[in-house]
Amino acid sequence: MAKRKLKNILITGGCGFIGSNFIHYLFNCPQFTGRVINVDKITYAGNPENLSDITTKYYGRRYFFVKGDICDLELVRDIFHDYCIDTVVHFAAESHVDRSIIGPADFVKTNVNGTFVLLEAAREAWLEKGRPEGCLFYHISTDEVYGSLEKTGFFTEETPYRPNSPYSASKAASDHFVRAYFKTYCLPVIISNCTNNYGPYQFPEKLIPLTILNASEGKPIPIYGKGENIRDWIYVEDHCEAIWLLLNRGKIGEQYNIGGGNQQKNIAVVKMICHLLDEKLGSSVSRDSLIIFVEDRPGHDFRYAMDISKIARELNWQPKTDFKTGLLKTIEWYLTNQDWVQRVKSGAYKNWIKSFYKTVKHAF
Ligand code: NAD
Ligand code: DAU
Repeated sequence: MAKRKLKNILITGGCGFIGSNFIHYLFNCPQFTGRVINVDKITYAGNPENLSDITTKYYGRRYFFVKGDICDLELVRDIFHDYCIDTVVHFAAESHVDRSIIGPADFVKTNVNGTFVLLEAAREAWLEKGRPEGCLFYHISTDEVYGSLEKTGFFTEETPYRPNSPYSASKAASDHFVRAYFKTYCLPVIISNCTNNYGPYQFPEKLIPLTILNASEGKPIPIYGKGENIRDWIYVEDHCEAIWLLLNRGKIGEQYNIGGGNQQKNIAVVKMICHLLDEKLGSSVSRDSLIIFVEDRPGHDFRYAMDISKIARELNWQPKTDFKTGLLKTIEWYLTNQDWVQRVKSGAYKNWIKSFYKTVKHAF
């Protein structure tokens, strides 16, 4: 296997939840000596402040930020050219299932068309000008492409795709394009499909941060349906470690399932968070009394669970963080980063990058 270059890594959606965690992971990783070029459109979910420490420390040397849309082929072409991109780690997406139900169009644009544009730019840059060894297009995807499980069983890499929401359909379509570029053009690709992530910097529309914030502020905690749906939760740092291993040693043209080995009913997750907060902050009445059962999500997938034996066997990877430890770390992060929370809620987080550029504009 040709040694991966990993010198000039284009990270898409690096200001989002997993992307920003992954950039932190990279800069904390002694083996990583390359540069990161982060392209992000800064949608409602993109928060440049998530990378304020990295920006201050590395900007203009090992970290670069381009505010832009992955659907813009000219821009993406320029980035490949200007930064001699040898690796793509493609996180950028519209990621929230509920939003995809209300307005699917942006999901098709970014998740399908945006992925297609990146593949085209990679094909032009890497294949039309020879076949540079060690390049890699790494596509980040989700377990939701496989559809929904009943009470038993696991998704394997061979499970047929049966996406049920506009979000998962758009991710499935993007996975198919990535696979097609490998089969048709021999573009060096890897796809990984991961279960539900939780941890620092997650936008508080998703179940775990929403519950932490509402429970700590005494607000109602909405649970869809009866709370019986099951998700397999993984601490985001464990996901980042798996991505790093696959970037280095994953097999070209292959797909890998990543999961937390941690299936939980939604009601159990919410109650656990409430009880951990009760212990931490004290309470006369448990915060689980804030739970309200609301109308179910249309087409709500019942259960996800991953068979991770392929990545365990090939790369000796297993998730390390048990659920209670991960939740305690996450709770601690949201409680101690109240400024971040308040700026997200008020929308002020959008201003951080403007003030940063004002400060550094003479330097670069
Ligand atoms: P997120 O919503 O937190 O972040 C998405 C980022 O992409 C944001 O910074 C946003 O500004 C950016 N973006 C959106 N549209 C863009 C565009 N057109 N051009 C450039 N940037 C754009 O998402 P996340 O939860 O960090 O998920 C990242 C990836 O991981 C997604 O591809 C998602 O499908 C996948 N994934 C997420 C989970 C999870 O539990 N969150 C699990 C498995 C897979
Ligand atoms: O499985 C991986 C997927 O996990 C990723 O691909 C998606 O990008 C990510 O958003 C996540 O999707 P989910 O829909 O599973 O995550 P969410 O946090 O929105 O919901 C988790 C479960 O909790 C789901 O069964 C719906 C339920 N839920 C969610 C919210 C926001 C509630 O009961 N109440 C809520 O308020």
